[in-house]
Amino acid sequence: MTPGVRPLIAGNWKMHGLAADGVALAQAVAAGAPGLKAELLICPPATLISPLAPVFAGAVALGGQDCHEAAKGAHTGDISAAMLKDAGAAYVVLGHSERRMAYRESSHRVCAKAEAALAAGLTPVVCVGEPEDDRLLGRAEEVVAEQMTESLPAGFGAAGGVVAYEPVWAIGTGRTPTEANIAAMHAMMRAKLSATFQAEGAGLRLLYGGSVKPGNAVAILAIPHVDGALIGGASLVAEDFLAIARAAG
Ligand code: 13P
Repeated sequence: MTPGVRPLIAGNWKMHGLAADGVALAQAVAAGAPGLKAELLICPPATLISPLAPVFAGAVALGGQDCHEAAKGAHTGDISAAMLKDAGAAYVVLGHSERRMAYRESSHRVCAKAEAALAAGLTPVVCVGEPEDDRLLGRAEEVVAEQMTESLPAGFGAAGGVVAYEPVWAIGTGRTPTEANIAAMHAMMRAKLSATFQAEGAGLRLLYGGSVKPGNAVAILAIPHVDGALIGGASLVAEDFLAIARAAG
C-alpha cells in the first residue's frame, strides 16, 4: 500500500453475467461494502452497467471493460466513453491483455482510448503486463515500462488514473509472481509514474491483477506500492471478492 492512498478493489467480470445473475451478484457485493476501507469497483459487461447502477447506489463504483477512442461515429459494435459514463460508469478498464492479444490493441491505441476516457470524465484503469517469455528472458520490467510510456496520456496523472500490473501468464492460471517480483515491478512503476507526472504520480493507484484470491490477497496487498487489486475469476463469487476487499484493511 502507498500511505494515504485509498485502496481500490476492482472486479472485472469479463464476459460473464446476464441480468438476473448479475443483479444477484451485485446485491451480494453491495451488502458487504459498508465499512470497508477500500473503494470497490465492478466492471460488468456493458449491458449490465445501467441495471446495476441502482443496485450499487454509489456504494460500489461501476466501470466499463473497454471503449473506443472516437467520441462517436461509424464503429459498429463499439462503445464510446461517453456511452459508458451515460450508463453509470465512473471508470473504464483499457488495454487488458485479453484485448491486446485478441484484437492486437497496441499501446498507442490504448493511449488514444485513455484520452477519450479522460475527455468523457471517466477514470481510466490502464492494464500493462508481460507475457511469460519476457519474464523468462528477464525483460519483464523493460516491457512493462515501455507499455507505460506508450499507453499513458498527458492528463492521466491530474485525473487520478489507475495502472494495473497484470502479468499475462498469471491471468486465470492460479499462478502469481513471487512477492519480490511484484514488489520490484511496482517500485519501478511508481518511480516511472513519479518521473512522468511528478507529485501527482506519487499518489496514483497501482493495482496488481492475476490470480488474486482470498488466500493470497493479504500478502499481495501488503506489498509496497500495491494499492489494490484487479480481480477476474474471484470477482464472480461475492464472498471471495469481499474477502479480498477486507484484506485491503
Ligand atoms: P483472474 O483473477 O481470473 O486471474 O483474472 C485477472 C484479470 O484478468 C483481471 O482483469
